[in-house]
Amino acid sequence: MAKIKTSFFCQSCGTQYAKWQGQCNSCKEWNTIVEEIIHKEEKVAWKSETSAVKKAAKPLRIHEIDSAEEIRMNTTDEELNRVLGGGLVPGSLTLLGGEPGIGKSTLLLQISLKLPYKTLYVSGEESQKQIKMRAERITPNGENCYILTETKTQNIFRQIEEIEPEIVIIDSIQTLQTDYIESSAGSISQIRECTAELIKFAKETNTPVILIGHITKDGNIAGPKILEHMVDTVLQFEGDRNHVYRILRSLKNRFGSTAELGIYEMQGSGLREVSNPSEILISHKEEELSGTAIATTLEGMRPLMIEIQALVSTAVYGTPQRSTTGYNAKRLNMILAVLEKRAGFRLGAKDVFLNVTGGISVDDPAIDLAVVAAILSSNEDIPVGKDFCFAGEVGLSGEIRPVNRIEQRIQEAEKLGFSTVYISKYNKISTKFPGIKVILVSKIEEIVSELF
Ligand code: TYD
Ligand code: MG
Repeated sequence: MAKIKTSFFCQSCGTQYAKWQGQCNSCKEWNTIVEEIIHKEEKVAWKSETSAVKKAAKPLRIHEIDSAEEIRMNTTDEELNRVLGGGLVPGSLTLLGGEPGIGKSTLLLQISLKLPYKTLYVSGEESQKQIKMRAERITPNGENCYILTETKTQNIFRQIEEIEPEIVIIDSIQTLQTDYIESSAGSISQIRECTAELIKFAKETNTPVILIGHITKDGNIAGPKILEHMVDTVLQFEGDRNHVYRILRSLKNRFGSTAELGIYEMQGSGLREVSNPSEILISHKEEELSGTAIATTLEGMRPLMIEIQALVSTAVYGTPQRSTTGYNAKRLNMILAVLEKRAGFRLGAKDVFLNVTGGISVDDPAIDLAVVAAILSSNEDIPVGKDFCFAGEVGLSGEIRPVNRIEQRIQEAEKLGFSTVYISKYNKISTKFPGIKVILVSKIEEIVSELF
């Protein structure tokens, strides 16, 4: 233990210091000085029997490299498998980020309990009793799952050597602490060093490791940016805590596409996989109400029908209010300006509230056309036909712009029994859709005259 030497380095210019200080003397940056290990005794962190030198990689010509597909470990959770690109890759490091209370621990505990592999779930945040209580709510099984409450990486590795798990889950990386660095858990140097130890373990034993990571207020994964560079896969769990739907997205994936998406519903008994998301996001009501329109969006590779609700009313106070949930507020202002300037609607003195139902947030530009339809419908107090749906982006001059994968969107709308879909005139479609009427529009004015 004594042979470890650490020193402090500025992350910005590399200047070395004997002790920590707030500002770097040479580049004048603040909070960039971080403790790093400069000399490490062998056999410090994870060290398997075979020495690294023996296993050192040799260069190969490209055709000599074995191109057999990666083996995937089935997590028995369809949504997670899809987001990972088919399952967990042995020896990979996955980081799951998300806001506090969103359900990260629930998701991974639930998966650990169902896994057909021997799993070690390490928690630095909750006691074994708390985890047991949660587990009882979720599922009665859990034969293969071992629970450890520990924060010291050295102790965790000791348990790993004893139990020999096939999958390791760490809740969370910010609670881990290695003996070799003095700074407190959660600091940049601790996070980086602990992750490095876990990577070494994962690669040498071919065991997949999943880390939970907290998110800072501005939505980044807390800790150094390099944490995201170090791991193979970065997943993000998001949603509105007051709603039941949660989305699992992949932000980075060395073994698959980042376009895939998983959807869950938070229930009293844990998270339920939602395999047909379109149906739940549309509220089925009997009578037609003004101010709602259905958007045909794509989240990742999956088509998703989402209901947009708008309320337009005369402003009570001097300055009109603009409020959105699930939709970019700046984009709403842009759309209102376009409606005012290009289509002659006087919305400048009105309050406009916009809501994407289900508490999910959408950044697919194809949602614009439904936003326009919902706003106009509320403004005119005329309902949009309830089996109409929309897919198109709105440009600054009021033109309806084409969107990607239009055929997939139309297909989903047809499958769900919509009678009519409005899309941009500039979208090329080659397939025939017998079950649905496709109406092509090129300008906002056309939508207005079509609908009202
Ligand atoms: P948790 O997994 O602790 O969040 P994180 O690890 O991301 O901080 O999730 C906590 C929330 O989930 C909590 O508010 C209660 C809710 N929950 C349910 O609604 N149903 C359940 O079965 C469980 C276990 C939790
Ligand atoms: Mg948690």
